[in-house]
Amino acid sequence: MSDQYRNLDTGANQWYEKYDEPRSNSRKKWIIGSVVAVLLIVAIGVGVGVAVSHKNSSSSTRSSTSSGASAGAVNQTNPNDPSTFVKDSRLKQSFYGIAYTPYGSQLPDCGNSLEGVIEDIQLLSQLTTRIRLYGADCNQSALVLEAIKQTKVNMTVWLANYPIPTDNTVYTRQRDLIMQAIQTYGTSNIGGVTVGNEWMLNYLNANGATDPNSAVGNQGAQLLIADIQDTVSALNALNLDKHIPVGTADAGAFFNNEVLAAVEYGMSNVHPWFANVSIDQAAGWTNEFFQEQNVQPAALLSNHPTMYIAETGWPSNSSDAGNESNGPSTASIPNLQEFLNTFVCQANQNGTGYFFFEYFDETWKDVQFGGVEGWWGLFTSNKTLKALTIPDCPSP
Ligand SMILES: *[C@@H]1O[C@H](CO)[C@@H](O)[C@H](O)[C@H]1NC(C)=O
Ligand SMILES: *[C@@H]1O[C@H](CO)[C@@H](O)[C@H](O)[C@H]1NC(C)=O
Ligand SMILES: *[C@@H]1O[C@H](CO)[C@@H](O)[C@H](O)[C@H]1NC(C)=O
Ligand SMILES: *[C@@H]1O[C@H](CO)[C@@H](O)[C@H](O)[C@H]1NC(C)=O
Ligand SMILES: *[C@@H]1O[C@H](CO)[C@@H](O)[C@H](O)[C@H]1NC(C)=O
Ligand SMILES: *[C@@H]1O[C@H](CO)[C@@H](O)[C@H](O)[C@H]1NC(C)=O
Ligand SMILES: *[C@@H]1O[C@H](CO)[C@@H](O)[C@H](O)[C@H]1NC(C)=O
Ligand SMILES: *[C@@H]1O[C@H](CO)[C@@H](O)[C@H](O)[C@H]1NC(C)=O
Repeated sequence: MSDQYRNLDTGANQWYEKYDEPRSNSRKKWIIGSVVAVLLIVAIGVGVGVAVSHKNSSSSTRSSTSSGASAGAVNQTNPNDPSTFVKDSRLKQSFYGIAYTPYGSQLPDCGNSLEGVIEDIQLLSQLTTRIRLYGADCNQSALVLEAIKQTKVNMTVWLANYPIPTDNTVYTRQRDLIMQAIQTYGTSNIGGVTVGNEWMLNYLNANGATDPNSAVGNQGAQLLIADIQDTVSALNALNLDKHIPVGTADAGAFFNNEVLAAVEYGMSNVHPWFANVSIDQAAGWTNEFFQEQNVQPAALLSNHPTMYIAETGWPSNSSDAGNESNGPSTASIPNLQEFLNTFVCQANQNGTGYFFFEYFDETWKDVQFGGVEGWWGLFTSNKTLKALTIPDCPSP
């Protein structure tokens, strides 16, 4: 892998779209050629769904509902007690962490529900003890913490604020929701507060720049650092019983050193699929990229921010023929299985903190972007486990 990275970008237009639509929940993608790294951004849409919810229904079919609940996805021995959920023997608590966005959590069309989030937490808790969110709109922080409370599972959540440079009320509105949720639910299940999702990538794309540590990059960094410092102050003002770390999440090649110097952790998107890496090299490439581009540089900073992989995974399908392959390998369930087999237990063994991407297929991404965007889940959008064998190794 080369040290030289250039953003070939198709992302700028999408960035503006996204900024017009703050409901966006974008994902970054890696594209690395022999000498270049490219990051594309993918913005977001809205969930769709129509049916009526059937909480704790014993129906044998699974229909998605307008609230993101899925009838029969999880059964409870006591229909009124979410902590009595029936475990699925196919699920193993083998993942360090998993990336999660509740269904219907983008403004202006919030469609999430406590019922749907409880199902998600019941399933997620059988796979991991850690999840990360991307933003705080649509009350998702409180919903997740309430679901953890009612299911009584061992789950730490990294709450998140997804700000945009063109409208700081997007930041403040999410900050206030996060602070309220922490005051309501306490600190015991909070791993951190992530401020920024691909902020540097987006800022550079919008300004026709590629180097996160250039003058333009440092300019964008100052805007994000102001929000980071504001979140630190807001947390301090709560006089909490536990220290809550504040971090940021960005595309793997887009960390700015001044931002990293202002946070306690960085979460990095590392995607072998978008780097056109073959499936047989995907796990090793992910590790190597993360170590060289993120862990080693962060260790040189005096504050030594903890680095996590924010997203890594493999798509199981594509909605168009043009995206069925990344060059050497296809988007398929067997290849997702291969990535699980070669990454999960090995990364646990190596002590890597990672959030697998992702919990379930996000239909709205398929509707809005097509390609592989809506097909990264371990579960389908109706919360059916794909034809996968979950790796079985000690929970890290
Ligand atoms: C929940 O119970 C129903 C009815 O017995 C069954 O059809 C369904 O498969 C169960 N769901 C799970 C995830 O076991
Ligand atoms: C749930 O999703 C799976 C996989 O996409 C599909 O086979 C199944 O028919 C769906 N179930 C319902 C009730 O929609
Ligand atoms: C909960 O999970 C954490 C890892 O996230 C682990 O260190 C801790 O021991 C677990 N607690 C219990 C009670 O299992
Ligand atoms: C947010 O979710 C919590 C937990 O379900 C609930 O108590 C609260 O009323 C919700 N707030 C709003 C504004 O919907
Ligand atoms: C784990 O570490 C070994 C030894 O450094 C490396 O070869 C391997 O690629 C790593 N795998 C993962 C998934 O981190
Ligand atoms: C894969 O995507 C295509 C195109 O959207 C869809 O028709 C097909 O049902 C999907 N396959 C699975 C297994 O969901
Ligand atoms: C691949 O998917 C992207 C969306 O992620 C889409 O814009 C592009 O047109 C697709 N490419 C082909 C060749 O179909
Ligand atoms: C990655 O592979 C796709 C599909 O073959 C191709 O369109 C794209 O140009 C490749 N990107 C790089 C950076 O190699």
